[in-house]
Amino acid sequence: MEVINKDIYILGIESSCDETAASVVRNGREVLSNVISSQIDIHTLYGGVVPEIASRKHIEKINQVVRAAVEEAGMNIADIDAIAVTAGPGLIGPLLTGVSFAKGMAFASGKPLVGVHHIEGHISANYIENKELEPEFICLVVSGGHTHLVRVVDYGKYEILGATQDDAAGEAFDKVARAIGLGYPGGPKIDRVSKDGNPEAIKFPRAHVAAGEYDFSFSGLKSAVLNYLNSMEMKKEKIVTEDVAASFQKAVVDVLVANAMAAVKKYGEKKFALAGGVASNSALREAMEEECRIRGISFYRPSPVLCTDNAAMIASAGYYDFIRGKRAGLDLNAKANLKIGYSC
Ligand code: KG4
Ligand code: ZN
Repeated sequence: MEVINKDIYILGIESSCDETAASVVRNGREVLSNVISSQIDIHTLYGGVVPEIASRKHIEKINQVVRAAVEEAGMNIADIDAIAVTAGPGLIGPLLTGVSFAKGMAFASGKPLVGVHHIEGHISANYIENKELEPEFICLVVSGGHTHLVRVVDYGKYEILGATQDDAAGEAFDKVARAIGLGYPGGPKIDRVSKDGNPEAIKFPRAHVAAGEYDFSFSGLKSAVLNYLNSMEMKKEKIVTEDVAASFQKAVVDVLVANAMAAVKKYGEKKFALAGGVASNSALREAMEEECRIRGISFYRPSPVLCTDNAAMIASAGYYDFIRGKRAGLDLNAKANLKIGYSC
């Protein structure tokens, strides 16, 4: 890694889903501003993110969000060392808004451009509040679009140990929440009502995927919840929403914990981190923290605001890309299915 003797300021831009976000981060770990404009209110009307609406809203907001991030950091664009933008994976229209905006800014200002992988961003959120955290470690990235168990071998060097074969963990939370009438976004709502429910009330399945030792599958669990709801309705029995939510949540958490701890053991890792929107789930945080404590493993998780989509994490990941010499040209393109560890 290049040795740099001055402070490096990265402007991060994120627009891969339904948050328009911009942030200025110093030396990859110190957040000077973190502006997030959420579109949740609009998408709630439709029960989920509508990509076309998301693209339009990003276009409306991105200018003021980026401007606010630079101003709140007390800077001008001239003070920024590089612009880091999420290039994928995500929704292609929303991604293109951020990438096009960042390219325009880089061209106008003459500043270097770095294309950042969204999941690498989620992982890097852990560097912000844990100044001592360095690779290598194992990270479980659980969000609305992704469920990946990743071995962070070094900055920018990742090994995927396992992934979901069907639904992402957050997607399962959102779909089950809709089925039990909690609405969108489901994760935080299931988290909240589960506190009043019994996680042992209903025995939902814990899927273990034969294909890969650390892979996940959540569609069977989702179907099991739907079947349970249907059979209770047919029998005209009372559905206790809190118990369904808590039992579903426990089934997700059990599988996530089992796979994560199996990987930690296999690789003899002493550090484990959570990342992504679902990493703000209180039952998951408690269970992982406890399992790590029992095994003498250091446990890391970002604050909730850095778990869900934000641009500080993109600026942090962008910093480590930048100091390793990674640069994108003005031909940078957004990629909906960008693979982790691949150059963008
Ligand atoms: O990381 P994120 O903001 O966006 C993606 O990159 O997908 O994650 C959003 C997901 C949603 O599915 C949301 O329901 C879930 O994270 N989520 C939660 C919680 N907070 C957000 N899931 C479970 N418990 C929570 N407290
Ligand atoms: Zn995300």
